[in-house]
Amino acid sequence: MSLPPGFLDELRTRTSLSQVVGRKVTWDTRKSNQGKGDMWAPCPFHQEKTASFHVDDRKGFYYCFGCHAKGDAISFVRETENVGFMEAVEIIAREAGMPVPKRDPAAQVKADKRTQLAEVMEQAVQYFRLQLKTANAAVAREYLAGRGLSETVQDRWEIGFAPDARQGVFAHLTGKGVAADLVIDAGLAARPDDGRDPYDRFRGRIIFPIRDARGRAIALGGRAMEPNARAKYLNSPETELFDKGRSLYNLGPARQAAGKGAPLVVAEGYMDVIALSEAGFEACVAPLGTAITESQLQMMWRVSSEPVIALDGDTAGLRAAMRLIDLALPLLEAGQSLRFALMPEGLDPDDLLKMQGKAAMQRLVDGAVPMVDLLWRREAEAGNFDSPERKAALDKNLRAAISKIKDGSIRQHYGEAIKQMRWELFSPKRDAPGKGNWKKKPAAVQPSTKSSLLVNAGAGVEDHLREAVILATLVLNPQVLEQFESQLERLDFSTFEHRMLRDCLLRFGAVDDLRNQMETVAGAELASVLAPRHVQISPAVRNPGDAKIAAMCVAEELAKLAAKRGALREIQEAVEDITGMVDEGLTWRLKQASDASDQAVRSQGQDAAVFDTAPNGAQLDRGERDAFARLMDQIGKKSDQQSEK
Ligand code: UTP
Ligand code: MN
Repeated sequence: MSLPPGFLDELRTRTSLSQVVGRKVTWDTRKSNQGKGDMWAPCPFHQEKTASFHVDDRKGFYYCFGCHAKGDAISFVRETENVGFMEAVEIIAREAGMPVPKRDPAAQVKADKRTQLAEVMEQAVQYFRLQLKTANAAVAREYLAGRGLSETVQDRWEIGFAPDARQGVFAHLTGKGVAADLVIDAGLAARPDDGRDPYDRFRGRIIFPIRDARGRAIALGGRAMEPNARAKYLNSPETELFDKGRSLYNLGPARQAAGKGAPLVVAEGYMDVIALSEAGFEACVAPLGTAITESQLQMMWRVSSEPVIALDGDTAGLRAAMRLIDLALPLLEAGQSLRFALMPEGLDPDDLLKMQGKAAMQRLVDGAVPMVDLLWRREAEAGNFDSPERKAALDKNLRAAISKIKDGSIRQHYGEAIKQMRWELFSPKRDAPGKGNWKKKPAAVQPSTKSSLLVNAGAGVEDHLREAVILATLVLNPQVLEQFESQLERLDFSTFEHRMLRDCLLRFGAVDDLRNQMETVAGAELASVLAPRHVQISPAVRNPGDAKIAAMCVAEELAKLAAKRGALREIQEAVEDITGMVDEGLTWRLKQASDASDQAVRSQGQDAAVFDTAPNGAQLDRGERDAFARLMDQIGKKSDQQSEK
């Protein structure tokens, strides 16, 4: 585990659960007894008027007598903020005034610089907001009012105004003692080549603050007010804080809303996101003035398994959709796909909401078509397939597109869906064969097809068994559950039963009678996981109770699954996210496993390897330990490069 021993205990003792929970609920003062740390409130996890949600502040646990939600401060933050384990730890630690330990001093310096820059950005955001209230900004306020943004909405989105001055924010910040270089490094001002004084980057523009998932101000978007300005939007340049291709506007609030079940809508611009959110589509994000990147897709998939892409209904929007399809095809996995909501010609979501209202937008989101539909449309658009050659060309293009899908099972399902549409298009029984017919909505992938697709995708018998070993080991060795929480959460289990068991594990956490509890709610599922011989002979299942062995088994199976599913990239990102706090064992295992993917998966000879004991107690194979050292070097270099950019 990447946190030092005792850290979580200390965090728990220093944290007041009722304080953490108190921000999300209104206490029932009559029922509560603050002196005893015995607090009651209406439950934040389900709709209710009475107070059946109980917090035991001294023990640090909560339990809802209505919906049976239970857990501690960490699980509370995870569920209400929809963040992962480490992020929740960081949030709580920050509030408790405990520094989350960083191991790597270089990473620490970088993190400090980023913290400084974020503070400078925050001050700038507040400065621009104040400017919007001044006499100077009358035109800006009029512009915003003209676009239907009330003062409340402006405040909610922290919209500001950059006065048309050479040194507005620069003078303000340096006047408050901020170093000129920090203002420049934050992307707020630029230093001319000719050695003259730095000047503000944003002048005479409406300012949209851009925050990262944790709410830190990282960049700004600036919109010109005159309709024929040279650049309608001017965004912050790439800085140490802001990597355009890895940021999404409104990600934090969107993630929270999506966690409550709202579909994630992806729009093109700031104004679309604001209009959508204000209309009740709160789970929405936008890229920042560039085509959607692979990292952004992965970020979206971490929030929702099937984001709805709402693209402007013009040819540019459609072209963007097609590019996105090409980007997404090789990345498709079980529980990781896209839908497309096609806006009427010439309208973006902001326009649509203004002109036709919420219901129209809702219809579009509900009717969003699966990717395979759009793929078909793209290829069948040419329309005229009256000769064998043309039919053959269509087949060839479709085959080429489908062959980009890496996941075998999904590829097969795409093939079948396309075959069906093709059959409908060419079927002689149709009344009016030929051109235009594809527009009659071809057999879309039905929800039922979809779920069966998810069930079958990606999972050979072997994967299925590995998942079973992981689940069984954790049920029988709950003491190691916590350290695998975030990986468990990210893992795409191949069947509904496995997902259900995973959810139960995450929900119950490491309680003493975990097995009994699981048996009560998911007895049959649990039995099926414990039954296979392969599971029974797994060491931590045969002899539960040894945490080290259990942790090794789980880490190993996770690593092999992850290697097979190509998750190394994502884990590496996670590693960079939590700068310096590397789960060494896992990172190394992943690297190993992906290097020699198949070989490693098949290998029975693992036991014969020579093991060293790492400082954190994990068993490391010597050869593998060297590989790990190389990987860490690589990550170090990579993040250095990034910060130099
Ligand atoms: P749009 O032109 O669709 O923006 O560009 P919009 O949000 O609908 O803007 P309004 O409604 O005219 O105010 C979509 C996104 O592309 C980026 C911005 O992020 C914008 O939100 N963009 C657009 C730029 O970065 N620069 C530009 O000059 C134009
Ligand atoms: Mn617009």
